Amino acid sequence: MRGGSGVGLLFVAGMALACGSEADGVAKEQPKLPDAALVDAFNDGAGAADAGKDAAVPFAGPASLSETGIFSDMQSRTLAPGVLAYDVRFPLWSDGAEKQRFVSVPSGTQVDTSYMDVWKFPIGTKTWKEFRVADKLIETRFLWKQAEGADGWLKVAYVWDDSGIDAYPKPEGVPDAAGTKHDVPSVEQCEQCHNGAGDVLIGVSAIQLSKEAGGGALAAFVSKGWLSQPPAAEFPVPGDGVVESTIGYLHGNCGHCHNDESFLAQKRALRLKLLTSAKTPEETPLYKTALGAPAFHDLYGTQVIVTPGAPQTSQLYQRMKVRNLDQMPPLGTELADDAALATVGQWITGLPP
Ligand code: HEC
Ligand code: HEC
Repeated sequence: MRGGSGVGLLFVAGMALACGSEADGVAKEQPKLPDAALVDAFNDGAGAADAGKDAAVPFAGPASLSETGIFSDMQSRTLAPGVLAYDVRFPLWSDGAEKQRFVSVPSGTQVDTSYMDVWKFPIGTKTWKEFRVADKLIETRFLWKQAEGADGWLKVAYVWDDSGIDAYPKPEGVPDAAGTKHDVPSVEQCEQCHNGAGDVLIGVSAIQLSKEAGGGALAAFVSKGWLSQPPAAEFPVPGDGVVESTIGYLHGNCGHCHNDESFLAQKRALRLKLLTSAKTPEETPLYKTALGAPAFHDLYGTQVIVTPGAPQTSQLYQRMKVRNLDQMPPLGTELADDAALATVGQWITGLPP
């Protein structure tokens, strides 16, 4: 057992190593590194982070949201030609904030979907995500691919002014924006979640755009000719009931870090991103890497990631429940997702020992 602060440090350590891990497309057991290596990496990264702390983050993108090309008329919110509104099947929990999502792919280009689990986007791809808290429009996040590589994407949040007519970039983020508890993330925080995703976009992906009965946004992507290898049908999630809901929830809320592409891949064997090749629950990375698997740290009285039949001694469940330096996900939320905890708790309880 160790102090709670240790994990927070390790988390930042991982982030400092965020670049450079190679995708290999296969979940495999990774050798575990000693903690010391992660702590050293943190110390290296910490100096740099402190140095920039008081300086304004340099920003060279569009000076207002209206200039990003989302709406052709801001006041009536008329979408600009070529911009598509879409939904994801398993939204990220953001303490109950309401979100709307938009995407545009430059005409005459296509998303490379030859590896269906990690799409590669053409230069010029833009996405936006609006956040509303208690019906008030707070921020619109913007990702715009300008060159290859994670650093080739412009990443920033635009915060709405009181008139609700336009929004302006806040690369440093804004804690408790507009008198709410909602924190607008900094560019560095965007990177902590998005740079592990393969080609930065997370929800613009095969499983997230699919719906079980069809009618997800994937069909719209296909009919617009946006995908280089259009799939014949939308992708189902293996299992039924709480099994299906758990696999999907963990894919949507955890899979952007716990996957084969992220910096974390070399440090931890746990994989929570669902792959389109998995046809049964047992074939999912979750079942292969979490059930009965040893955790790196002894936390909350257990060193097992998922103990079939026992949520209380499953670190995955315990770390979803807490909101402190051990919490999962490590950023972007201050309130536990009680509905998800109930589902995941039932799933663990129902797993055969
Ligand atoms: C806590 C992790 C996290 C942080 C921090 C974060 N995002 Fe995201 N973002 C996600 C996830 C997960 C999705 C996909 C699921 C969804 O849309 O609900 C997403 C979706 C998006 C989308 C829609 C396109 C896509 O990738 O699916 C945009 C645009 C976006 N984020 C922009 C940003 C920007 C800009 C920042 C920083 C100002 C940021 N995000 C910070 C996790 C994060
Ligand atoms: C922004 C990236 C990120 C997201 C999103 C994220 N994690 Fe993690 N997770 C980490 C890092 C970094 C570690 C390793 C350091 C640590 O143990 O805190 C970790 C470790 C873990 C561990 C311990 C693994 C081991 O081998 O000891 C579990 C369990 C876990 N996460 C569960 C989750 C769950 C469940 C979610 C979603 C609800 C989630 N994580 C979302 C970054 C993330």
